[in-house]
Amino acid sequence: MTVVIDPAFDPAPSLSREVAITVATDAAGAGAVAVFVAAEGDLPAGLPTELNRDALAAAGFTGKKGQTLALPGSPLTVLVGTGKGVSTVAQLRDAVASFTRAARESASLAVDLRAVLSADGVDVAELTAELVAQAATEGAVLSRYRFEALKTDAKTVQLEKLALVLADEDAEAAEIGVERGLILARTASLARDLGNTPPRHLSAAKFADLVSAIGPDFGLEVEVFDRQQLIDLGCGGLLGVNAGSIEEPRMIKLRYVPEGSDDETPHLALVGKGIMYDSGGISLKPSNAMHAAMKLDMMGAAAVFSSMTSLRELGATTAVTGWLMCTDNMPSGSATKLGDVLTIRGGTTVEVKNTDAEGRLVMADALVLATEEERRPDAIVDIATLTGAAMMALGTKTAAMLANNDEVAEQLQAAADLTDENTWRMPLDHRYRDQLKSDVADLSNIGGQYAGVILAALFLNEFVDGLPWGHLDIAGTMQAESDDLWRSTGSTGFGARLLAEFATAFEAPAKDADES
Ligand code: BES
Ligand code: MN
Ligand code: ZN
Repeated sequence: MTVVIDPAFDPAPSLSREVAITVATDAAGAGAVAVFVAAEGDLPAGLPTELNRDALAAAGFTGKKGQTLALPGSPLTVLVGTGKGVSTVAQLRDAVASFTRAARESASLAVDLRAVLSADGVDVAELTAELVAQAATEGAVLSRYRFEALKTDAKTVQLEKLALVLADEDAEAAEIGVERGLILARTASLARDLGNTPPRHLSAAKFADLVSAIGPDFGLEVEVFDRQQLIDLGCGGLLGVNAGSIEEPRMIKLRYVPEGSDDETPHLALVGKGIMYDSGGISLKPSNAMHAAMKLDMMGAAAVFSSMTSLRELGATTAVTGWLMCTDNMPSGSATKLGDVLTIRGGTTVEVKNTDAEGRLVMADALVLATEEERRPDAIVDIATLTGAAMMALGTKTAAMLANNDEVAEQLQAAADLTDENTWRMPLDHRYRDQLKSDVADLSNIGGQYAGVILAALFLNEFVDGLPWGHLDIAGTMQAESDDLWRSTGSTGFGARLLAEFATAFEAPAKDADES
């Protein structure tokens, strides 16, 4: 028997998975059919006549949001509670996710969306046929996601078919929504695959190989920088974090250039933290569940890459440059020590007082490089599993967002609303900036005990040269401990859909709106 020390592995199984989603006028042929039931009002037509509210309540089904009740038969009919009814795309995505989970044995599903589109008495402004079809697609595909690439016996019944039942006049718009939904679900699934893949299977070098192999299929130019090239560039942050590892670091630069772009084309830079595994370094983390999740410390980089794979297909008209800063963070005889001083690209020196505050060090190099591009970006957005403090403050369902520019913040918030990847803006409060002072260097990589989210953002803010900038701290939202609506257990892929929607809708902030 050979022990595979350096496993060969396809880390993106979701890319080869296909789901046939059709817009139909009835649910014929499906293994399971969803019927949405609100907590009040008449039951929807078409249910068996013996079913009434009392009978359903006796079976424990009141129509409360998220409840499901499967009625045996062929096809299986699944009642899905919608509480006060479906009035937002997020609620619809959730309802379809609940249905898909309840019908987990069925490969072929159908959802009747006609009532959702014609609901009266609710604010249906955002419930267009296109958005409804998109959200239903995302809800079904993402809730059936399971990372089983390393299981000997994969048990999940894959989703093969989904029929969305809609009126004829909505079919055309719905087809567009289905297509967008499939692209975005694939985008999030790719990010999840990358996150769920174990750290030895996905080192920085292997990540770079994968991006180089598949990036061009999605219209991306890929440039990979190895250790020597990072030395030549003066990327002391990334190199300093990598110093304790036997794995080489990689910086991966991605470029999406829309067709027909010219001088007027807006330009966005996306920066992702790609710590393939964060042991804490010399400031070693305790061996607990949090530490065990640190293969996910590259979800920022995964979100940037995955979102960029959707840009051409979504018809994005903004030029996007992506920077993935990849290494693991390991303790060893060669590791960066507490008190060591690193020189970031551009010359800023940073005293490392805690090697577990490594994310900001690798991000700093990329932020500087982004500001140095010949065509300066109209905005920079970074995404990182940066601080446990973000998780303490906002929990696992909401990411922290900070920005030096209101227009960038508003556009990020709008994308988050669309994808239901909640963000909450926190203040970039410069009064805490003094805590980042060092006796021996320009900056310290940590501040005091409190306001950890803000301190980390203030550190990054030092490197954006006043350009419009937004920051997403996804430490809390990177992972789901158990299945939860469209989030499947494990990596959530949080931020991949958000950045795709954000980049697709991006408008350059007004030049004088820069308030940094
Ligand atoms: N990767 C961690 C942050 C993290 C924590 C992500 C929990 C996901 C879940 C980051 O590199 C880190 O260790 N941050 C330190 C910063 C501190 C030393 C200032 C933290 O949050 O404790
Ligand atoms: Mn850390
Ligand atoms: Zn980290």
